[in-house]
Amino acid sequence: MRQKLEEIRERAAKELEAATDLAAIEELRVKFLGKKGELTAILKQMGGVAPEERPKLGQLANEARGYIEQIIADKNEELQKAALANKLVEEKIDVTAPSKRRKLGSKHPLTIVLDEIKDIFIGMGFDIAQGPEVEWDYYNFEALNIPENHPARDTQDTFYITEKMLLRTQTSPVQIRVMENKKPPIRIIAPGRVYRADTVDATHSPLFHQIEGLVIDKGVTMADLKGTLELFVKSLYGEDSQIRLRPHHFPFTEPSCEIDVACFRCHGAGCPLCKGEGWIEILGAGMVHPKVLENGGVDPNVYSGFAFGMGLERVVMRRFNIDDIRLFYDNDLRFLEQF
Ligand code: DAH
Repeated sequence: MRQKLEEIRERAAKELEAATDLAAIEELRVKFLGKKGELTAILKQMGGVAPEERPKLGQLANEARGYIEQIIADKNEELQKAALANKLVEEKIDVTAPSKRRKLGSKHPLTIVLDEIKDIFIGMGFDIAQGPEVEWDYYNFEALNIPENHPARDTQDTFYITEKMLLRTQTSPVQIRVMENKKPPIRIIAPGRVYRADTVDATHSPLFHQIEGLVIDKGVTMADLKGTLELFVKSLYGEDSQIRLRPHHFPFTEPSCEIDVACFRCHGAGCPLCKGEGWIEILGAGMVHPKVLENGGVDPNVYSGFAFGMGLERVVMRRFNIDDIRLFYDNDLRFLEQF
């Protein structure tokens, strides 16, 4: 039996030495140390051994078990280390390899100019306001002093959603929403999308962008309107640009005007860019109509204000020499990548 134990020890050591993976080691563990394993089988024969021999043999058997267990533990550790080392080599990151170039996008031309315009007004102390694009007839027309059957409604081909709900045709409804929510002094611009059922061509799109402006405080006059918008135009187009105010009519302002800037190319002489006019219209503006102030909950006996509205697309088209408004919405990379 002593011999048998010795033999199992040696064979176990040899076979474990040859094992190359964790599964093989587990198999050998079961073979030698498992319930039906060889060592266990030997111990079961202990009954046939002389009583005085038993303690000695028991000790030897335990030693053999310990010896084999130790080999298994060492072997397991060795294999795990090897596996880890292997993994580290395989997954090694070559920090000297050249990186993949990440292509940077660019701002949309409308965003480039809008950001510039926002910065100019923020610099003058304006906040940015927003309103919904799906708007009530009340805010888009009614509260702006454009009642039903008013001719101004005809000039704005409106997308109606229901009889009382529509896609806003202008950013002017934001004026009312701001007045309803904030007490004067008010100094905001409200850029955003507007919608009109125009036939699409090189200068018309059913979706375009406007920037609304509203200033309300005690004692605001037409001089403030002119000074503010002159500073704006000079900031956008250069210190030497000139503006002129031309009388006009809007239902929500009184008096109203349109603001022209002297043609950038001919400086007033007349050329194809300004269609021979010498001047280019860029803004509608005026003193906020007392009824509109009232509709916004502002007392026209205490406060006065001015408002203005401009189209963004036309400004951007002139800036970058873009001759077709549809290019803004096509998302053609050949166009967008130029900015
Ligand atoms: N809402 C006008 C339009 O779409 C533009 C406009 C003109 C806005 C004069 C104003 C303003 O605030 O005072 O044609």
